[in-house]
Amino acid sequence: MLVGNETHDDAGIYRINSSQALVQTVDFLTPVVDDPELFGKVAAANSLSDVYAMGGIPITALNLLAVPEGVLSPQEVGAMLRGGQEVLNEAECRLLGGHSIDDNEPKMGYSITGLVHPAHIWRNSTAQAGDILFLTKPIGSGIVIKAIKDGETSPDIIDDVMRMMITLNKQASETIRLVGDPTACTDVTGFGLLGHAWEMAAGANVGMELHVSAIPVVAGAKELAGQDKFPSGSRRNLKYVTPHLEISGQVSEGTITLLADAVTSGGLLFTVKEENAALMETTFSDVGVALYRIGRVLSGPAKLKVL
Ligand code: CO
Ligand code: CO
Repeated sequence: MLVGNETHDDAGIYRINSSQALVQTVDFLTPVVDDPELFGKVAAANSLSDVYAMGGIPITALNLLAVPEGVLSPQEVGAMLRGGQEVLNEAECRLLGGHSIDDNEPKMGYSITGLVHPAHIWRNSTAQAGDILFLTKPIGSGIVIKAIKDGETSPDIIDDVMRMMITLNKQASETIRLVGDPTACTDVTGFGLLGHAWEMAAGANVGMELHVSAIPVVAGAKELAGQDKFPSGSRRNLKYVTPHLEISGQVSEGTITLLADAVTSGGLLFTVKEENAALMETTFSDVGVALYRIGRVLSGPAKLKVL
């Protein structure tokens, strides 16, 4: 076993031989949107993300499906699976099978298996003081999804968050690899940007400085944050990181909660040595993949500094 549970990393890793290791992960979600095909796409992109976050390449998938019998039509279930399949195809990941059960609330996800070279595993606990911190997708999906469920959004806001969630982290991870292994990497999901940044900081016993003005946010999220429309999970996330948080006076409470907002299928959060940061930026820009320089790594002890 090369990566287990101890560092709360994105996936487990098991060495097969000197050049290959298995990356294994499982993830499932309750619906984030009414459209069953879109939900299937989000479920697949979200599950695949943990393999990309470890520096792996997904090869096979097993589907997990819970369906309320008699509530969802066979056509709707078919659309969920079709959406998932489309994203697996994009990832060049083969579906080998799966398992479904009857349940009160629909749920869908995948167990994904990937491959990685044992010397090129991207861990979340290996950032070093002086590194630059990057993010590849906007945050704020949690508060927007709640607004969608409450019927308080417009089509363009829904489009923006959906586009974010169904975008695979495939291209981002391939682009990182063009420059070289990051010093540390994870993906931003349920614990929010602050929660995942804290795991990186705690795992490596370093500080993380986050620059609020550089952090990208999906359409509508700032307005909803201003109206304090957060789901309870975001407040829970904030409470969890608060003991480790140092906030500059300029940053509002709503902004801090937005930084802790639970994300579904978020971007890669990774660190690189400062001397490689500019090359990383020009390479992403050449390939046409979004990249945001959102902060830097400080010397220990572990803490989060937001300014
Ligand atoms: Co993850
Ligand atoms: Co996960």
